[in-house]
Amino acid sequence: MSTFTVITRTGQVVPIEGRLGVSVMEHIRDAGLDELLALCGGCCSCATCHVYVDDDVKVHLPALSIDEDELLDSSDYRKAQSRLSCQLAFMPELEGMIVVLAPED
Ligand code: FES
Repeated sequence: MSTFTVITRTGQVVPIEGRLGVSVMEHIRDAGLDELLALCGGCCSCATCHVYVDDDVKVHLPALSIDEDELLDSSDYRKAQSRLSCQLAFMPELEGMIVVLAPED
């Protein structure tokens, strides 16, 4: 079983069991963490699923698409670790990953 950890905006630490091919955004929503709005449902058009992903797993993440990059640019809270969680499908290599919910824009 592969798990990863989500840290909410209030500092709550939530372990989540990863499901192969399911987006990190869907995992977060399914865990009942409603502070991640994900308004577009994963269509890469809203940026309300913004998270920070720790550098340790960066090598396993897909490259930023142009759309994701432009949407992240619209956030006041963009960092080097920023990603849109709807664009990250879970895979075993992400075992142990720490995902921090970015502040809401
Ligand atoms: S849910 Fe809208 S961009 Fe990710």
